[in-house]
Amino acid sequence: MNKRTFIKTAGAATALAFVNPLRALTFEAPKENGKQVLILGGRGFIGPTIVNAFLASGYQVTLLNRGKTNTHLFKNLDVIICDREKENKQGLKAIEKKYKHMYWDIVVDTWQKSPKAVSDFLDEFKGRFGHYHYISTISVYDKWDKKFIEETEPLNPLPKFPETISEDYRYAIRKTLSEEAIRERISNYTIYRSHGMKDYRVTRPGDPNAEPFWPVRFYRGGEILLPDVPHHHIQITDVKSMTDFIVHCSKTKTFGSFNVAHHPMPFKDYISGLIHATQMPKKLHWVDGNFLIENGLLPYSIVPLWRTKPAGSYCFNVQKAVNAGLINRPVVEMVTDQINGYLKRNPKDDVRFGEIVNGEQMKYYSVGKEKEVIQKWLSKSS
Ligand SMILES: NC(=O)c1ccc[n+]([C@@H]2O[C@H](COP(=O)([O-])OP(=O)(O)OC[C@H]3O[C@@H](n4cnc5c(N)ncnc54)[C@H](OP(=O)(O)O)[C@@H]3O)[C@@H](O)[C@H]2O)c1
Repeated sequence: MNKRTFIKTAGAATALAFVNPLRALTFEAPKENGKQVLILGGRGFIGPTIVNAFLASGYQVTLLNRGKTNTHLFKNLDVIICDREKENKQGLKAIEKKYKHMYWDIVVDTWQKSPKAVSDFLDEFKGRFGHYHYISTISVYDKWDKKFIEETEPLNPLPKFPETISEDYRYAIRKTLSEEAIRERISNYTIYRSHGMKDYRVTRPGDPNAEPFWPVRFYRGGEILLPDVPHHHIQITDVKSMTDFIVHCSKTKTFGSFNVAHHPMPFKDYISGLIHATQMPKKLHWVDGNFLIENGLLPYSIVPLWRTKPAGSYCFNVQKAVNAGLINRPVVEMVTDQINGYLKRNPKDDVRFGEIVNGEQMKYYSVGKEKEVIQKWLSKSS
């Protein structure tokens, strides 16, 4: 069995271990529920997972985008061709006549660029949808200076709302302004504030720097260096769990704003998930965090999922979403998906983290650096 088959098998076995046997026995093709969903976007990073979740629940799904990205996906679905970046709602106004008066039970908006594009959509489609969902981020909170920030904490102070699509702000401000535009206009919305999304797909396919470091590192096995840091917690948003929550909120008409992620979890629990998912022969070297820093392996920028400040990072309160029905699937399932996605994109497993490739410095750290620091640590502690 090669490594690749192994992962698939391991993943399937793991997934089976977590499947509710009653559900497995009664599985059948979803019945159409007669509800219409409009996904604004749908063919990028998280869009396809959202589309699949609604289809699996029997919804009729239509996409709205420019017809440029990943056009091989969802060929059997209707696509409304529209450029949301055109000023003065020109793109929205040019939508084909047959869609102009349709009513959408659900709209999901993955937009991350201009807040004006969000307000334009809401104004143009006023009264023509039942429930609007918006993918946001925990970057909308003003201060991350304490642990367990809840949805009621103050958001970023905002500049004047942009008058044009082209007016540009940094990411966190764009998201906060978009949220403001939603709250000002409607009450039938749900906002999902995510924290470090992980999925089978990556945000920039084709860019090796977008590949997930830890899942790939554990897939490769061998001698693995890990940061030994007191109270090391991490927090992640599993796109699939979030997407199931979006469908759940649609079914239950759950409105409001939610932090959506796993509860903060010990880094060691995340590592356990990786061990179970990969099962490659490996030896773990837990190396003191200060020693890593002294040797140039800095938190976050070089060693991912290790963040020392601000205090609130990786520690947002997600209880409101959990109470509303968010179910985070086991880490082992999530990382298995990530590894399978990585292998699909990189069948030769040839991403070289931390090396200089074609004159460009890759993110994270190299195999050589890892070996060097492990050796230094072992000599120091022997
Ligand atoms: N918190 C976190 O960790 C985190 C991490 C990553 C992403 N995010 C958020 O998650 C969301 C990710 O969205 P995604 O890219 O994965 O969404 P997506 O819906 O999968 O992909 C983006 C879609 O937008 C369409 N699009 C692009 N430009 C457009 C335009 N001018 N007019 C109409 N449609 C256009 C693209 O299709 P066409 O090109 O064919 O138009 C594509 O289908 C963003 O909101 C981002 O902020 C959060």
